[in-house]
Amino acid sequence: MQEHVVIVGGSSGMGRALAEELVAQGSEVTVAGRSPDKLDAVRRELGVQTVAMDIGVEEDIERLFATTGKVNHIVTTAADVGGAYQPISEYDVNAARSAVDSKLFGPLLLAKHGASMLEPGGSIVFTSGIAAYRPGPRASLLAALNGALASLAAALAVELAPIRVNVVSPGWVDTTIWQDVAGDAAAATLAAMAARLPAGRIGRTQDIAAAIIALLRNGFITGTVLHADGGHRLV
Ligand SMILES: NC(=O)c1ccc[n+]([C@@H]2O[C@H](COP(=O)([O-])OP(=O)(O)OC[C@H]3O[C@@H](n4cnc5c(N)ncnc54)[C@H](OP(=O)(O)O)[C@@H]3O)[C@@H](O)[C@H]2O)c1
Repeated sequence: MQEHVVIVGGSSGMGRALAEELVAQGSEVTVAGRSPDKLDAVRRELGVQTVAMDIGVEEDIERLFATTGKVNHIVTTAADVGGAYQPISEYDVNAARSAVDSKLFGPLLLAKHGASMLEPGGSIVFTSGIAAYRPGPRASLLAALNGALASLAAALAVELAPIRVNVVSPGWVDTTIWQDVAGDAAAATLAAMAARLPAGRIGRTQDIAAAIIALLRNGFITGTVLHADGGHRLV
């Protein structure tokens, strides 16, 4: 039977690269995200089905699984973290709530409603990030959220067993998220990091898609974090 994978955040960046690769491998894919325009584009270009939803809204997640029915794997790459980058001395938590909703409560709710929708052998993958392991100024909440996802996946791997729950932790990957993080300095910031990394380059969305697929396919990996970061944690 054809494998069905749900990708929340699959309308751009890493999630979209994952959708593209899975479609190429013959999987059925449902892409979820907020922007109808981005969903239209991915539906047209990849031939996937799409659901407009916000991962931070519980009713939206219920509607997502009511639409898909049973699935084999659930992945989220969703993140709305622009408001999270603030110096701690001036921290405005209201401006950062969408980051907490999209990166932490969203994955938790996805597991809450998705676990019963998984076919035997199914798994869940969350997306964290290097900010947890190489924290920088203004990114304290991002560090905390990414770190929390490792603990959340470990706890859920036990609570939901035999469903496997894992995390992919990307290093710096050239996606539109960098406009939020660095604005006009995005290209120069990424180039400077490329020169520092053991891998000698910035990540590509396809690198992260391949790491997620490895987590989906390997039935002996659960409760773990796969670092796809070009060696960033080492420098
Ligand atoms: N790029 C990097 O260098 C980097 C490094 C470390 C970690 N990460 C992490 O990797 C993941 C993917 O990043 P990316 O660069 O591929 O991001 P991206 O290109 O901005 O894609 C994010 C996707 O998530 C969707 N999304 C955002 N908020 C959502 C919400 N509340 N509900 C549902 N969908 C939502 C977006 O579509 P809509 O806006 O239309 O909803 C979009 O499809 C994120 O978790 C990010 O924190 C990225």
